[in-house]
Amino acid sequence: MRTIDDLLGEQDLRGRRVLVRSDLNVPLDDQGRITDDGRVRASVPTIAALTEAGARVVVCAHLGRPKGSPEQKYSLAPVAERLGELLGRPVALAEDTVGESARAVVDGLQDGQVALLENLRFNPGETSKDDAERGAFADQLASLADLYVSDGFGVVHRKQASVYDVARRLPHVAGTLVQAEVDVLQRLTHDPARPYVVVLGGAKVSDKLGVIESLLTTADKLLIGGGMAFTFLKAQGYEVGRSLLEQDQLDPVRGYLQQAAERGVEILLPTDVVAATEFAADAEHEVVPADAIPADRLGLDIGPESARAFAAAVEGAKTVFWNGPMGAFEMVPYADGTAAVAKALVAATRAGAFTVVGGGDSAAAIRQLGFADDDFSHISTGGGASLEYLEGKELPGLSVLEDSGPVSGGKE
Ligand code: 3PG
Repeated sequence: MRTIDDLLGEQDLRGRRVLVRSDLNVPLDDQGRITDDGRVRASVPTIAALTEAGARVVVCAHLGRPKGSPEQKYSLAPVAERLGELLGRPVALAEDTVGESARAVVDGLQDGQVALLENLRFNPGETSKDDAERGAFADQLASLADLYVSDGFGVVHRKQASVYDVARRLPHVAGTLVQAEVDVLQRLTHDPARPYVVVLGGAKVSDKLGVIESLLTTADKLLIGGGMAFTFLKAQGYEVGRSLLEQDQLDPVRGYLQQAAERGVEILLPTDVVAATEFAADAEHEVVPADAIPADRLGLDIGPESARAFAAAVEGAKTVFWNGPMGAFEMVPYADGTAAVAKALVAATRAGAFTVVGGGDSAAAIRQLGFADDDFSHISTGGGASLEYLEGKELPGLSVLEDSGPVSGGKE
């Protein structure tokens, strides 16, 4: 995979239009304000390296999941503003993706300037399953630039026009973020320092089926919290009251528990939970043993005994990967389990372990709970993408970069 360093070493980028695919899919509040700008910050090094080299940078990205037509609430306007603040230079926002406005904005770029196209998913071609429709949109995107830099790590698992098809149409390289994320994932998959402890949380087991299966062959310990823990508890024969339960996942989960026992992989499940009467911050709640969740309550966090056991496992690790919160951390009464795991990762990092936080929710959780990015070895910008990589799946946005020959079309 060729990288931006190769590009910068080979070509004079002055006067060249470079299309950069970033992942700027950030959470917004009701007022349209960005609540976690981590992905915007992570996009800056690549864009800044290109502007410093004199390139005319055309950034493209998506926000949310609009259905192929413009919707004001999914406009990238707040992102353009934040990106401009972080870059210390204005970012011109086109009013469309590949239409008249985009062309005018791109044509108006001078060397070292940056433009942002409107949300790519305002165009049905971006996410189309039809190769021809996606290809037609990719043709239009490609016509806006001379070179392509893939830097949206969070979308490399998507076979979408701006991620996959454009790379087949333009000379391309990986940006610094994609490069850094792939380096980290390689370190996790190729001979990680042991013990290798993986903490999984979040709502659904079904989202994590593939990765659990593959982690059973690489990790030493698997700690399961969050909503998905209740399907594991039920699979062990416990009643889980009104907690989140994926009935159809009970059989696969039983299979995992058996495989783990056969392979000597320790699976740690909560031994106590915070059980509430409702999914609400002000609901009545109490800590109960995991095998005695009252029938009318739902578990919204791991309990203190589980938090201590999880923390001890994390602190004893040399490599840690964490994806998914331990509970409904957005509500103060149910944030302790997630905070305890985060604190343990910080301690492990300080003790020299390699610690990786993967995914939007976990990254947002640690920032909301007041931890700093450099408390951890790496915070991944891509949840789904990291999980699919760890699962051993081929990621279209990465494999398409592998076929890059020498970057062509450069001005000598
Ligand atoms: C993410 O938020 O994980 C990425 O931006 C990908 O978004 P998507 O799941 O809507 O494709």
